[in-house]
This record gives sequence, structure tokens and C-alpha cells, in this order.
Amino acid sequence: MNKLEKIAREIKNCKECKKKKSGKPVPGEGNKKAKILFVGEAPGREEAKTGKPFMGRSGKLLTQLLNSIKLDRKDIFITSPVKYYPGKRTPTNKEIDHGKIHLLKQIEAIKPKLIVLLGAVAHKALIGNVKISEIHGKKLQKNKVTYFSTFHPAAALRFPFIKEFMKKDFKKLKRIISF
Ligand code: URA
Repeated sequence: MNKLEKIAREIKNCKECKKKKSGKPVPGEGNKKAKILFVGEAPGREEAKTGKPFMGRSGKLLTQLLNSIKLDRKDIFITSPVKYYPGKRTPTNKEIDHGKIHLLKQIEAIKPKLIVLLGAVAHKALIGNVKISEIHGKKLQKNKVTYFSTFHPAAALRFPFIKEFMKKDFKKLKRIISF
């Protein structure tokens, strides 16, 4: 069993992660040696059914954005701070703080060169409260880790102007990832 599988097992057995949530655990998936890690918010209904991240409408948009810059989901790793479906609500700070324990272990195991933060919960978990409208499309440095800020695809599905921002952000991301 590799490190990521061990962490996935811990998540599956974690009572705190499961509190007030439902469905299968969604530890994340992708390349265990990915250079780029994408961090979302929390699983939705589709993800809770399948145990896989970004399977619903947001996932379809994320896949399109990735493909638009010649990235395949197999090349990267995708996860979120919250590992179980919380229902139709934003995860609480307590849930984000708890999920972060597992997320940091995953980051330590994968050792990505870049972490792409998708939306407010990902930012809150890893760099703190920020205004995404002010920092999206930019590279950020914190504790020797490099992040790239953008919106969550669910926001882009709701607001066409955010979808346009995300398309531009991904073009910027393409320039950054020529490592
Ligand atoms: N949104 C997320 O943030 N994560 C998922 O896995 C699915 C939807």
C-alpha cells in the first residue's frame, strides 16, 4: 500500500470526517507523483455516489478547462479539503480545519510543484481568507509552497463572467506550468 492509499484508508475510517455528512469518502484521485495538485471544496452528490472527485457538472467544466491547456486528469491529482458530502451547504471552518489534516498529508505524499486553489474553501484551508476576485490568475508563495489562485468551477457555472475569468486564468496557468 502506498502513502496515498494509506491516507485514503485513514479518511475512510475517520469518524470526524464523516460527521454530518453522507455517501462514500472522496479522498481524491490522479497521478500519485503529480507536479500539479488541484484543490476544490467538498464532494457533491455525484462524488458521494462514486467516491471520485469532480464527477458532476463542475467536474465536466474542470475537465474542459484542463483539456483546453493540454492537461489530462490522469496527469494531475485532484482533491478537496473536505472528504465527504456535506449536503447543499458550505463546509464550516471546523470541517475545513479538520479536513486540512488529511489534505496536508496528501500534499506531503505527492510533493507537487504547484497547488491550484479552486475557490474560497481551498484558499481558506491552505492560505487563509482572501478575496479571490483580487488574486485570481496569480501565483502565490506561502511557506515555500507555490500556489495558483482561481475560482471554483461551480461559481463559473452560476456566473458567466466568472467562467471567462477562469478561462483566462487557465491560460496563465499554462504559461506557468512549463516545468
Ligand atoms: N466540487 C468540489 O470542490 N469537489 C468535488 O469533488 C466535486 C465538486
